[in-house]
Amino acid sequence: MSVGWGIMGTGNFAGAAAAPAIAALGDAGRLVAAVSRDRARADAFAAKHGAARAYTAYEDLLADPEVQVVYISTPNAQHAEQAVAAARAGKHVLCEKPLALTVADARRVVDAFARARLRLGTHFQTRHHTAFAETKRLLDERAIGDVILVQIEVSPGDAPLRGWRTDPALAGLGAINNIAVHAYDLLRYLLGAEVGEVTALTEVGRTPALERMVLALLRFHTGVLAYVNANQNVPYYQPDIAIYGTRGRIVGIDCTRPFRDGELRVLTESGERVAKHSSRDAVVRSVAAFNDAVVHGREPNASGLDGLRNVQLTDAVIASAREGRLVQVAS
Ligand SMILES: NC(=O)c1ccc[n+]([C@@H]2O[C@H](COP(=O)([O-])OP(=O)(O)OC[C@H]3O[C@@H](n4cnc5c(N)ncnc54)[C@H](OP(=O)(O)O)[C@@H]3O)[C@@H](O)[C@H]2O)c1
Repeated sequence: MSVGWGIMGTGNFAGAAAAPAIAALGDAGRLVAAVSRDRARADAFAAKHGAARAYTAYEDLLADPEVQVVYISTPNAQHAEQAVAAARAGKHVLCEKPLALTVADARRVVDAFARARLRLGTHFQTRHHTAFAETKRLLDERAIGDVILVQIEVSPGDAPLRGWRTDPALAGLGAINNIAVHAYDLLRYLLGAEVGEVTALTEVGRTPALERMVLALLRFHTGVLAYVNANQNVPYYQPDIAIYGTRGRIVGIDCTRPFRDGELRVLTESGERVAKHSSRDAVVRSVAAFNDAVVHGREPNASGLDGLRNVQLTDAVIASAREGRLVQVAS
């Protein structure tokens, strides 16, 4: 079975990462159509990525009977409405992060897909980095004992906010929605647990300005503590993670951001093992996993519920930073 994909939003990530990942599906899937607000951009994108049809109205993409999956890659504020419209049109959706800007909207999206019995995925491709597939396996078999503490850094270097990301109405948040969400999701995934409470600081303090740096301390229900530093205002990449267990440690260097080559260092009683890993194909793996979930009627990794949990967590992070208090995470 070849799954037909349609792309909403012909921007950077769709062109550089998602469309090539759909092309890499081979016989399992293909790009059928793309939609842009602009005729020339729609045609150019479709021609470049081998889509048969190019639309300028989002409803036309949703009415295309050959499109089974819609990949949503538009500004953050549009995700919820577009996803609900896709569910109404009978399409599965792989939605870029964040799933929505508010908890109520994220819940509405999840409910719409549950009612329609369609697959909803949130695009947290870091889960599909081979370094983290290996880390998850090691943690699940308790190779480093019980996890006590995690430190994670996600920085793409100095990256000023540009375009729609400068508009709070379209972006919602700054570095939190741009990059921190991947780290929050990765921690939930690796630890298999939810966050109970959060305390956070941003460089813009208690103002509503869009942040480029956010430090969060998380306490999971299991008792594990985590420190997450997501920033886009330091000069160099810093995409590392350290997971401390009662019997060992896992350190990932250059692992928490896409399109990097890095390594995983696993330290246990039997010594240190170092393995090279690359996140260059994480998007390919993640799109293939969603395609597979559609074909086999499985819950995607990451799911819509993961998207909702992430919005609940980011809500708590920004409330803590803006109100200067420890915040319990709703669930
Ligand atoms: N998973 C990841 O690692 C990752 C990485 C980067 C981005 N993302 C997510 O992907 C989404 C797109 O990000 P991007 O970096 O690709 O952004 P982008 O390059 O600006 O692309 C967004 C596209 O959305 C369409 N659009 C519709 N209404 C728009 C509006 N009012 N203003 C601007 N564009 C509008 C535009 O396509 P047309 O002009 O053709 O209509 C635009 O090219 C975001 O939700 C972002 O969070 C995820």
